[in-house]
Amino acid sequence: MTQVAPPAGQTRFEHIPDEELIEQIDRLRVEKNAVILAHNYQIPPIQDLADVTGDSLGLSVEASRTDAEIIVFCGVHFMAESAKILSPQKRVFLPHLGAGCALSDSITVESLYEWKERYPGHAVVTYVNSSAEVKAESDICCTSANAVSVVRSLDSDRVLFTPDKNLARWVADQVPEKEVVAYDGVCPTHDVLRHATVDRTRKEFPEAVIIAHPECRQDVVEAAHEVCSTTGMLNAVGKYPDARTFIIATEEGMIHQLKKRYPGKEFVPADGCIGCRLHCPYMKVTGLQDVYFSLAEERFEIDLDDDVIEGARLSLERMMAVPRDN
Ligand code: 13P
Ligand code: SF4
Repeated sequence: MTQVAPPAGQTRFEHIPDEELIEQIDRLRVEKNAVILAHNYQIPPIQDLADVTGDSLGLSVEASRTDAEIIVFCGVHFMAESAKILSPQKRVFLPHLGAGCALSDSITVESLYEWKERYPGHAVVTYVNSSAEVKAESDICCTSANAVSVVRSLDSDRVLFTPDKNLARWVADQVPEKEVVAYDGVCPTHDVLRHATVDRTRKEFPEAVIIAHPECRQDVVEAAHEVCSTTGMLNAVGKYPDARTFIIATEEGMIHQLKKRYPGKEFVPADGCIGCRLHCPYMKVTGLQDVYFSLAEERFEIDLDDDVIEGARLSLERMMAVPRDN
C-alpha cells in the first residue's frame, strides 16, 4: 500500500494499492501517448514499469528520439531538463519536485563565469549533472559514458571540467596529453566511499570483480577492475563470464537492473558505512503515486527559456555526436 498526498481538489488522504496505481499509470500512458523514462537508480517498481531504463546518456538519446507527446522523466531535475532541451516541442514532466541533485546544484552560472575568468582559453566541458543554464554557458557536455571521448575530441589542449572533480580527475588520468582543470564539486552519494570501506567488502568476497562509477574518489576507482557509467556496468559484467560475485560501487538502485540482467550472479553493494548502501535521496524521492499524479494531473512540467534551450541544446548535441566509451 502507498500513502499518497490528496490530489488537487481533495482534502482526504487515500491509500491506493500499488497494483491499482500501476493499472492507472498503464491506462494513462496509453491515453495520453506518454513515454515513461527511468534512471537506473530509481526504486525497483518504477524501473519495472518504465518504457525505458538507462543511464543519463541513454535516456537523453531516448528523449531525443521518442514519438510520444509526453515524457514523464523518473530521475532527477537536470535529466528532465535535458529531455526538454532535446525535445522542446514535447511536454516533459518531473513527477516529484524534490528530485534535485547536490552535484548539479554545486555549480551556478555565476560560479562558472568566475572559473572561466580564472582559466581563460580553456574549453569548458560540463557533466550533464548541471542546470540547463550552466550547460548553455559551456562548450560541450559529457556523461560518465562518454567523458573520455568528449575530452579527447576537443581541439583545445586545455580543458575546464565542471562540476564533478572526481570524474574530472578520472578523465585526466585517461587523457594525460591534455591539461584538465577540475571544478570543485562532488556527488555526496559516491564521494562518501573510501578504499578502506571497499576493501572491507572485498575481504569478505576476495574473488569478486569490483565495478565503480567514475563519480567515486581516486582511491576507490584505483581499486576497481572496471570504471563505467551505470549502463556501462550492465555491459561490464558480461566481460566476466566466469566470475560469480561483483562488488558494485554506485547507488544501490543499480543492483536491481544487474540482478534482472544476470540472475545467476551475485551483486554486493559497496557500502559507505557497515550495512549502509550508497543511497541518493534525490533519486529515491519519487514513488509510484508521484508517477500516477504526474500523468493524471500533468505535473510538474519543465519549462525553460528559449535562449537557454538553444544554448544548452548546442552543448548536448555536440556531446551526442561523440561515441560512447562504455
Ligand atoms: P549515469 O549517467 O552513469 O547513469 O550516472 C548518473 C548519475 O547521476 C550518477 O550519480
Ligand atoms: Fe546527483 Fe549523486 Fe544523486 Fe547522481 S547520485 S543524482 S550525482 S546526488
